[in-house]
Amino acid sequence: MDKKVKKKILQQIPYGAYIVGTQTEDGKDWLMFGTWLMQTSFKPTLVAFAFRKDSRTLANVRRSKSFAVSFIREGTQDVAELVLDGAFEKVKTERTTSGLPVLSDGAGWIECHVVNQIPEGDHPIVLAEVADVGPGKGKPIFLESLGWHYGG
Ligand SMILES: Cc1cc2nc3c(=O)[nH]c(=O)nc-3n(C[C@H](O)[C@H](O)[C@H](O)COP(=O)(O)O)c2cc1C
Repeated sequence: MDKKVKKKILQQIPYGAYIVGTQTEDGKDWLMFGTWLMQTSFKPTLVAFAFRKDSRTLANVRRSKSFAVSFIREGTQDVAELVLDGAFEKVKTERTTSGLPVLSDGAGWIECHVVNQIPEGDHPIVLAEVADVGPGKGKPIFLESLGWHYGG
């Protein structure tokens, strides 16, 4: 297999741009920038998110069995870099009724409750039911518009 072609083809898969909100063991908010999300069922409403094996977020998700996904909206791209830099205090968040951190200024959010996990690979898949949603404003942005790739 041609590695360059493989990378090019796989990077054609379209992705969104999300902030995943969880809580640490001692109850602190934890934010992660991520892209590997898709819906997998209408009834029940299920989504799958692939989390890096060694990420704090995956550890939080496995412990609490829940996570929230906020959709970054146009004009607020800075949030992605702030979260990647770990500058959580500069990101305006609010809480879902169950206490998970979501973007105050995003294009909406979903709260997800874990129903299953697929451990293979360096990004284990977490299958989760959408348990709550919050409206947002504006339009969501996509990974390509940030000029970034995650795939290949
Ligand atoms: C463009 C881009 C996309 C990313 N997408 C994901 C993703 O879908 N899943 C994931 O676990 N990490 C993703 N990451 C890495 C996370 O942002 C994060 O740095 C890493 O997983 C560590 O997470 P932690 O802070 O929870 O330990 C992505 C990073 C970049 C730069």
